[in-house]
Amino acid sequence: MSKLLNLLQDGRFHSGQDLGHALGVSRSAVWKQLQLLEADLGVTVHKVRGRGYRLAAPLSLLDPGRLSVAVAKLGWAVEIHQVIDSTNAQALRTVAIPLSRPLLILAERQDAGRGRRGRTWVSPYAANLYYSLAVPLQGGIKRLDGLSLVAGMAVVECLRAQGLSDAMLKWPNDVLVQGRKIAGILLELVGDPADQCHVVLGIGINVNMKESEAIDQQWTSMYLQTHNSVDRNALAIALSESLASFIHTLETNGFATLRAQWEAQHAWQGKSVHLISGTQTITGKVLGITDQGSLRLEVDGRPEVFSGGELSLRLRDDS
Ligand code: BTN
Repeated sequence: MSKLLNLLQDGRFHSGQDLGHALGVSRSAVWKQLQLLEADLGVTVHKVRGRGYRLAAPLSLLDPGRLSVAVAKLGWAVEIHQVIDSTNAQALRTVAIPLSRPLLILAERQDAGRGRRGRTWVSPYAANLYYSLAVPLQGGIKRLDGLSLVAGMAVVECLRAQGLSDAMLKWPNDVLVQGRKIAGILLELVGDPADQCHVVLGIGINVNMKESEAIDQQWTSMYLQTHNSVDRNALAIALSESLASFIHTLETNGFATLRAQWEAQHAWQGKSVHLISGTQTITGKVLGITDQGSLRLEVDGRPEVFSGGELSLRLRDDS
């Protein structure tokens, strides 16, 4: 079925006869496969008498050959799935057998994409980037303080290189364009945080998605910002290169050396915000972050430091 999708991904018309010929099957078998494509993957195929079949919109499918060559240069392995529950969940399952090198897991679609604080990450087929990097850590997570923050910096670097010059960070690791969320990061840890463990860096970027009624917050995508379809393979490769370089800087110099750069890209630097933790809300002004990546807020005239995966920031209405 993925061979048929590969033939159709250009969004042009292909006759049933040509498709059957390329796949070595009859025209009626092509028709059956097309129905399966629509039912299983949620892609829409248009049929026009005398012209053949075409996808409602062109797709940029993940290319295993191109991706594995590119990530091998970084010393990583890659695993690509058509449909999976969650690339993070798959990464956590995989590291039950310790990894000897970083493993990148990508999928065309996630059926149970996970966001921070128990939310769902909307993950339609071949529309966006669903990216999880599992990294084995010998000396515990302390060595990579600030990892989720530098992942955000890597995403911002890639988006800016693609023309989204106003991509900005929102603590701890959302990426916004014009106040709308375009990417999110979910870091999960398995093993002994002080010794042998694996960290899974899950990154979701809204790439070619044009609409979604399932997202319950202000969002955007690269396509909606630039009106150009993005090559998801090129984006995954650029992100991997940027991430590898940031992780190297983090390992050698520590997060303190990246802190000023992070603050310069923080959309809400100096703004009045509400910091929400469960049912508790703290109001303050964003001063920046610490050398470990915790949030520095001025609360009632005094600087205070906050950290933790369950925290989230909201802009104060009058800021
Ligand atoms: C957030 O809530 O902002 C974090 C979203 C993280 C989504 C990505 S998509 C790839 C990886 N797999 C998941 O299930 N989640 C992360």
